[in-house]
Amino acid sequence: MSIVNHCFRLASRPVGLPKRSDWTYGAEPVREPGEGELLVEVLCVSLDPAMRGWMNEAKSYMPPVGIGEVMRAGGAGRVVSSRHPGFAPGDHVTGSFGVQRYAVVDGKGVLKVDPAFASLPVYLGTLGAPGMTAYFGLLDTGQAKAGDTVVVSAAAGAVGMVVGQIAKIKGCRAVGIAGGPEKCRFIVQELGFDAAVDYKAEDVKEALRQHCPRGLDVYFDNVGGDILDAALTRLARGARIVICGAISQYNRTGPAKGPSNYLALLVQRASMKGMLVFDYADRYAEAAREMAGWMAAGKLKSCEDVVKGLETFPDALLKLFRGENLGKLVLQVAPASAPETRSAALP
Ligand SMILES: NC(=O)c1ccc[n+]([C@@H]2O[C@H](COP(=O)([O-])OP(=O)(O)OC[C@H]3O[C@@H](n4cnc5c(N)ncnc54)[C@H](OP(=O)(O)O)[C@@H]3O)[C@@H](O)[C@H]2O)c1
Repeated sequence: MSIVNHCFRLASRPVGLPKRSDWTYGAEPVREPGEGELLVEVLCVSLDPAMRGWMNEAKSYMPPVGIGEVMRAGGAGRVVSSRHPGFAPGDHVTGSFGVQRYAVVDGKGVLKVDPAFASLPVYLGTLGAPGMTAYFGLLDTGQAKAGDTVVVSAAAGAVGMVVGQIAKIKGCRAVGIAGGPEKCRFIVQELGFDAAVDYKAEDVKEALRQHCPRGLDVYFDNVGGDILDAALTRLARGARIVICGAISQYNRTGPAKGPSNYLALLVQRASMKGMLVFDYADRYAEAAREMAGWMAAGKLKSCEDVVKGLETFPDALLKLFRGENLGKLVLQVAPASAPETRSAALP
């Protein structure tokens, strides 16, 4: 077997927004899988805000990507060959496959998925890590219950769109904060949120006062910075703030902007807690089953924004930081111009 891989390797640690020269893109031979390993043809790469953090040297919840290593990324693909008892050629799988065409992996964290139920991009979004983040962040960390007012930022993104919909399924009032009229229309009209705040055009504090007259019981924070500060001013008694992410801070070159209105936690006997989806790995199957049920029943919609061509990775990733994605951002490895056989292979 002589298969050629194409991959992005980290070349330098970015300052501010990553640029193409922070990676090298090259071709190299694929090695045969060893005992207990499998070879996966990566069909879709998950583009996630966390990738920016993994490029930093700083200590975090997982080690940084080393200089010269293949850029870490979740992905979905098809097993080409396997020396692992749990996987056979032709199986569709998700896992941490990196920004590359082919991955040789040991099976840890690799999950089989059914492309007849949902397309591969859905398994990277609503039925993947972002969906799990929304589910456990809202219901476990946020303790959302019927009658609560739930506010979520980056509401038209992979995590946020699921948070608002699960909030509705659970009988909450869902208010989304998003950038621009198109996203705000989408979350209300297509996804069933009760209200939307366009943070690029409105005074967020004032808009939250209007849409959350009794205050907010859960604030699911994906962005940090000024929006977190504004949400702090509208807490109901006993509110829970879920610190899921802080995308507004990921490309900062100075210190992160922390909340100055934190004393609202004291006044409202509220709490603010970080959550990491990986801590729930042993409960993914349970959540995925319930969410798949909601999808089948038409209660939970999924939206993916698919960009084509592995080589476009550096520019495609920036869409997250420019707010250019609607729903889950996925990179389809095959270019737009690939022969029909190749693109038809993408379930
Ligand atoms: N804790 C965990 O385990 C976990 C797991 C997955 C994701 N996360 C976090 O969840 C958040 C959302 O991730 P995602 O994958 O769902 O991404 P996403 O929401 O699909 O995409 C990112 C969105 O963030 C918004 N944004 C970008 N820059 C911003 C800024 N300066 N201020 C305000 N909003 C900004 C943009 O939407 P607008 O156009 O609306 O600005 C953009 O579309 C991220 O913070 C991510 O790190 C955490």
